[in-house]
Amino acid sequence: MKSYKKFWKLGMEELGTKDFDINKDGELIVREGNYQYNILDLIKKFGTPLEIFFPFIIEKRLRNLFETFNYYTKNLQYKGRFYYYFPMKVNQNKEFVLSLISEGANLEVGSANELWLVKRMWEQNQFNSKIKVICNGPKTNYYLSLISELKEKNLNIIPVIEDRTELKALRDYRGDIGVRFDLDVKTKSHWDKKIDRYGFSFQEIMELGKIKNLKIIHYHNSSQVERLEDLINQVKRAIEVFVRVKEKNPTLDTLDLGGGFAVPYLKKKMYTSDQAIKRIIRIVKKTAEKAGIPHPNLICEWGRYVVAPSQITIYKILFEKKIENSIAKKWYIIDGSFMNDLIDTWAIRQKWHVVPVNFMKGLKLTRVWLAGSSCDSDDKYTAGGNYILLPRFDEMGEAEDLYIAFLDTGAYQDALASHHCLLSSPAKIVAQNGILMVARKRETPEEVGKLFGW
Ligand SMILES: Cc1ncc(COP(=O)(O)O)c(C=O)c1O
Repeated sequence: MKSYKKFWKLGMEELGTKDFDINKDGELIVREGNYQYNILDLIKKFGTPLEIFFPFIIEKRLRNLFETFNYYTKNLQYKGRFYYYFPMKVNQNKEFVLSLISEGANLEVGSANELWLVKRMWEQNQFNSKIKVICNGPKTNYYLSLISELKEKNLNIIPVIEDRTELKALRDYRGDIGVRFDLDVKTKSHWDKKIDRYGFSFQEIMELGKIKNLKIIHYHNSSQVERLEDLINQVKRAIEVFVRVKEKNPTLDTLDLGGGFAVPYLKKKMYTSDQAIKRIIRIVKKTAEKAGIPHPNLICEWGRYVVAPSQITIYKILFEKKIENSIAKKWYIIDGSFMNDLIDTWAIRQKWHVVPVNFMKGLKLTRVWLAGSSCDSDDKYTAGGNYILLPRFDEMGEAEDLYIAFLDTGAYQDALASHHCLLSSPAKIVAQNGILMVARKRETPEEVGKLFGW
């Protein structure tokens, strides 16, 4: 018998779909321990387009990171400590950020407005006093004043200096600081830019000499780093630079590896956190020992890796349209928009794992391209000029609509989302411990109009 679960690449740890399965009726289910969510039931209750966030998935992934780092620090007798900082830009939704904080995450912010959210939570006493916050991004005067204010209110807040102007502005800062190194390592990734405007070059960083209260060397080279070797080469270079900077800065004791860990969106096996962490610790340890310095503390800001698999986005197929002379046979038109809800589809040609929510078993499949509901001919998903296999409309009868799920949509898409053709953003629900909560209702025409001054 054909294994449908395998065919749709579900239930596979290495592909991030361990908790996804198909029930006997050919419908998509998600398992949280022994509880299971039937996605078609959720659609019937909340409609489409619909985003479903599963906090248990990020909690599990973060716990796994802590356990793996702890395992290898012990196993390899590494003396430095490990800290996780969640980069808020990856997903600022309250339910995401709070789930991560409650699992022990610290925070990395990239703007004054993100820091303002931190300020609110700090003032409302919602944090354990041990939480730490790293501040990246251009330091406007307002951003700098928030940093000082929170420092005075005893939040452990660490600004990361990105250029000489910031160095001047933070000269008298009375707490720990970091500097950002513009890592000169080639990486296979969409974001590997020949000229990067962030951070100090090696030469500049050496010229800076002694920096008051320097604690952290930080780098962030690119996102979705596809090859483990590239990730490791980044660490190799960064620890070499760390050793050099420490010569003049004995207070320096932490290496911040930034983000970059990739998600297997395409459902092809990639490297695992276990493989990466083991090699990272080995390299840092060896280089530090060779240089005769203590093992540095390690920070990682892997954002996409931790949160992307925790959300799925659901659409109804509204109708189909024949395509002549093409690799795909039909357009399937969805009741949402790629340009609005999953904007990376358009912006960086992001590829996604797409599965049907119903009719996953038994029906004949057809090659389709997906089109959004905006008027824009760019509002489409063609899997990079390939095709998507989905059940055939003429096979399924009139009784039921066809729904599809995009997996791994939990990173970056919400803050980048837009309103082309004034389409409403999807509703978002949170599913945890078998309880469903509406985090954001589907926008009404009045709400969308208001955004544009109506
Ligand atoms: C400074 C910094 N840290 C971490 C991240 C998160 O990267 P990723 O989601 O690839 O792990 C980013 C993303 O742009 C970033 O700019």
